[in-house]
Amino acid sequence: MNLMLPLHSFQGKTILITGGGSGLGLSMAEGLLRLGAQVALMSRNEEKLQKAAEKLTSDTGGKVITFSADVRDAAKVEEGIQFIVETAGGLHGVVNNAAGNFISPTERLSANAFSSVIDIVLKGTIHTTMAAGKYWMEQKQPGTFVNIVTTYASTGSGYVVPSATAKAGVIALTRSLAVEWAKYGIRTNAIAPGPFPTEGAWSRLFPKEALPPDLAEKMDPASKIPLNRVGRHEELVNLVSFLLSEFSGFINGEVVTIDGGEWLQGAGEFNWLNAVPSKMWDAIEAATRKGK
Ligand code: HXC
Ligand code: NAP
Repeated sequence: MNLMLPLHSFQGKTILITGGGSGLGLSMAEGLLRLGAQVALMSRNEEKLQKAAEKLTSDTGGKVITFSADVRDAAKVEEGIQFIVETAGGLHGVVNNAAGNFISPTERLSANAFSSVIDIVLKGTIHTTMAAGKYWMEQKQPGTFVNIVTTYASTGSGYVVPSATAKAGVIALTRSLAVEWAKYGIRTNAIAPGPFPTEGAWSRLFPKEALPPDLAEKMDPASKIPLNRVGRHEELVNLVSFLLSEFSGFINGEVVTIDGGEWLQGAGEFNWLNAVPSKMWDAIEAATRKGK
């Protein structure tokens, strides 16, 4: 992993990553451990957490604490924060990364399907935020939140409506607390990633095997990104490390997009002109000059 911050940047710091046992959370855990942090992982699957902790410890030599909890359960999350504080001797940052998501036409969703995603993404983030925030206030200690959202939290997106609405709520939470809790020395920021390959996201959002080849091709996320590739985990790890660190001490309430230009590509009225070969521009220019 090619890390941007000086090694030891997180020496003496403990960072909680929800959903840190897999995917992007696991990569963030590795990066932060390499930068000297103690890392706490919180998610549902105890066995997955144990395996992740063993691998992280053997790869980095760092200290990993695990606590098995469903972030939908506020009391359990509070218990987890207490356990982490007691075991690690403190808590300095939280990455709200745990999420649930899948593609579906909205009209096919049951009430429980909606609740399931909203409760994990929005209420789960609220539960860790309340527990850690109140701990920092009681301790009169600063702290930092980084909330992982998505680009479609701002634009909206069909077929992932529970996720889009919940992540939009997380952005509102981010911007609200950035102001309200700044007086306690608590900074709150968010990251909006575009596509970064993970088993959890790819299996639920890009099930190519279920589609005919022409539609499967449309589903290829890299094809919609101006940089013509998906994100690399270390790029996200460097961003989250920066936002958790004191190097970003004056950044508060920001939502940083890291998507290779994807959402702007979709938004710009004339971006489709990328498809026009350069040799066609003489004819197009001649046509547009006629408008004089
Ligand atoms: C329709 C579905 C469904 C599907 C589940 N449900 N999957 N409905 N289509 N594909 C319905 C179920 O039938 C049930 O409703 C309700 O949703 C809850 O399902 P459970 O399986 O009981 O829930 P639970 O065990 O809590 O699991 C939550 C989950 C699951 C969200 C459904 O996928 C999960 O555990 N996900 C965690 C990891 C994850 O999603 N990672 C991807 C993050 S990527 P009924 O009515 O039948 O009871 C991301 C952004 C990526 O967030 C952006 C990329 C660019
Ligand atoms: P992932 O591997 O599926 O990560 C989701 C994690 O959340 C899992 O470790 C899961 O662990 C945990 N989790 C789910 N429900 C939970 C619950 N109720 N309580 C506690 N933990 C729970 O997917 P990912 O791609 O790395 O996603 C990580 C984050 O990035 C998410 O916030 C996602 O929305 C965001 N994101 C990802 C992409 C992408 O392209 N990958 C793009 C934009 C945003 P358990 O199942 O063991 O609980």
